[in-house]
Amino acid sequence: MTSPITTERQGDILVITSNNPPVNALGAAVRQGLDAAIKELNDDDSLKAAVIRCEGRTFFAGADITEFGKPMQEPGLPTVVDTIEASEKPVVAAVHGTALGGGCEVALACHYRIAVPSAKFGLPEVKLGILPGAGGTQRLPRVAGVQFALELAAKGDPVSAKAAQAAGLVDRLAGEDSLTADAIAYARKMADARPLPRASEKPVTVEPGVFDDFRKANAKRMRGFDAPAEIIAVIEETVGKPYAEGVQRERNGFMKLIMGTQSAAMRHIFFAERKAAKIDDVPEDTQLRPIKRVGVIGAGTMGGGISMNFLSAGIPVTIVEMAQDALDRGTGVMRKNYEGSAAKGRMTAEQVEGAMGLLKPTLNFDDLSECDLIIEAVYENMDVKKEIFGKLDTIAKPGAILASNTSYLNIDEIASATNRPGDVVGMHFFSPANVMKLLEIVRGAKTDKDVLATVMDVAKKIKKVAVVAGVCYGFIGNRMLMPRQIEANKLLMEGASPQQIDKVHVEFGMPMGPFQMGDLAGVDIGWHRDPNRVESIRDQLCAEGRWGQKKGAGFYDYDEKRNPSPSPRVAEIIAEWREKTGTPQHDVTDEEIVERTLYTMVNEGAKILQEGMAQRASDIDVVWIYGYGWPVYRGGPMFWADTVGLKTVVAGLEKHGFEVAQLLRDKVEKGERFN
Ligand code: 3HC
Repeated sequence: MTSPITTERQGDILVITSNNPPVNALGAAVRQGLDAAIKELNDDDSLKAAVIRCEGRTFFAGADITEFGKPMQEPGLPTVVDTIEASEKPVVAAVHGTALGGGCEVALACHYRIAVPSAKFGLPEVKLGILPGAGGTQRLPRVAGVQFALELAAKGDPVSAKAAQAAGLVDRLAGEDSLTADAIAYARKMADARPLPRASEKPVTVEPGVFDDFRKANAKRMRGFDAPAEIIAVIEETVGKPYAEGVQRERNGFMKLIMGTQSAAMRHIFFAERKAAKIDDVPEDTQLRPIKRVGVIGAGTMGGGISMNFLSAGIPVTIVEMAQDALDRGTGVMRKNYEGSAAKGRMTAEQVEGAMGLLKPTLNFDDLSECDLIIEAVYENMDVKKEIFGKLDTIAKPGAILASNTSYLNIDEIASATNRPGDVVGMHFFSPANVMKLLEIVRGAKTDKDVLATVMDVAKKIKKVAVVAGVCYGFIGNRMLMPRQIEANKLLMEGASPQQIDKVHVEFGMPMGPFQMGDLAGVDIGWHRDPNRVESIRDQLCAEGRWGQKKGAGFYDYDEKRNPSPSPRVAEIIAEWREKTGTPQHDVTDEEIVERTLYTMVNEGAKILQEGMAQRASDIDVVWIYGYGWPVYRGGPMFWADTVGLKTVVAGLEKHGFEVAQLLRDKVEKGERFN
């Protein structure tokens, strides 16, 4: 087998090139090749220095994640980086694309680093539930300071080459198109400079309070995660200690994390997200339909948010409303949102104008005839949607994709209002649509394969994570939300408080519990709007104007800053309803809340799978991570069920008298897992 690492002599400089598509992951063959190349450099007196560069779209994007959990093949990455650094002759890292994780650690082990301005540097291991395990926690603080190292390693977001240069991680910038030549020239210039700058030998100092301040400032985003705390601890405990000691502490931390459930869950999601983009019976080379202009019907919260995705990606949008004031209000909100981003420094004023300049607001439905993809985002009513699709059928250009943003309704029935059901598909965005990453693509019985392939591609362009769902009430996400909501309400009647139920969910790692979510979304959503018709706790709340956060009262009371507190009035309402309905009371334990609100979601997920409404269990996990804030360190509901044990889940469901999905029973019988 040929090695992914090749060497070539440019005079007295050895150019070491990696060619390991798609992202030059540092698998065993790459590590062996690098090791051999450094030996070649040092064994040959005619060579004075080396450049390490990569072919393809990126510098090493990290260790090969597919090797994790398998027996390690020598040499390990920690050995390889030490070999590079120990070289008697200078080694220059020539970086383009993304130097991530192990890739960044290779660069840190080189004596000099040159990068193109578009390159990025990062230590994203934390997002896989692990820590930089090839000297990153030791070399980065020495090269770029403790604060910078904490930012990179404990948060995991990459920085630009410019920021890396400012921090000392990059020594010089190369021309965007002349990286290799510039790196060779740089290597030649530094060929005789001694002593060699070795990161592990640099001293590291730290200001008092840095670690505590960092912990405090990032407490919210790190809640529940093991890896960030361990990364901070590794750096804190080893700062000022010799490199060898530090790297041993790093190794211990790495091994602890990689054996843990959180890391397994987060690696699962990394691959699940990428797998979700693949549709089993749609070939990858399916010819896509060109999407040059998008039409959006409805300029409300959803329509506006949906439009912003396309505008931000540089795709023109025609947005249609029925009345001028609604159209003006909608476009006004979009502008305000963009200006808000600009105020936070996330966009420039020119970018705001650029995006808004791509928007064509209109009252004329016929203007949609110029669009290649039309997304309907009006309120949930089948008759209204059918009327719209019937109309679209007469005006949309041949081959245009007709999509509905419905969150529950039957796409096949909507498609039946047209003479082109093959062109009809569901594109279910999650609110706020310009922020939430999830997009459920609902595949109708007749949806054409090239339509599916095209919308999956469009999703990627607008930076969404798309998951394919079949036609069923609520698709994947909202369908699984239903049993949770039903059980939460029943538990309330049987003796639990909203606070207890929400607390169990928040402690589990959800951003909020069912009642907090109800208050945020609006308790009145879907309410019949007749204050005299009071048939449930929720009707009573709505009748009393307790519509949630927007009214300062819902299941909780809220102060002016929307801080919640338990509501005595809600407690009274609940007590009245318990009495009125004669519901038997018992002490509801936290365990029962988990079994009845979370195991039931898993059960529903299993039904979705057995009905073929999701392609794979991991797709369901992706929906819940990106659409509802399920804690990524628990890997989504189906992965979580695997970790709990499917036998335990079935026993819990049976204990409370639920009808257990056949698939779940079959899995237990065969000793299988979902993932
Ligand atoms: N190992 C193995 N496979 C990887 C990989 C890695 N580190 N990174 C990406 N891939 C695979 C993906 O699974 C995908 O495979 P597929 O085509 O079969 O689905 C393929 O490469 C392309 O990946 P993307 O679709 O993500 O390509 P993009 O161009 O959108 O993104 C990227 C490129 C920014 C490099 C992105 O892939 C990424 O973020 N990769 C992970 C980076 C990372 O986490 N590195 C740290 C690894 S852990 C580590 O280094 C430990 C060390 O400290 C010891």
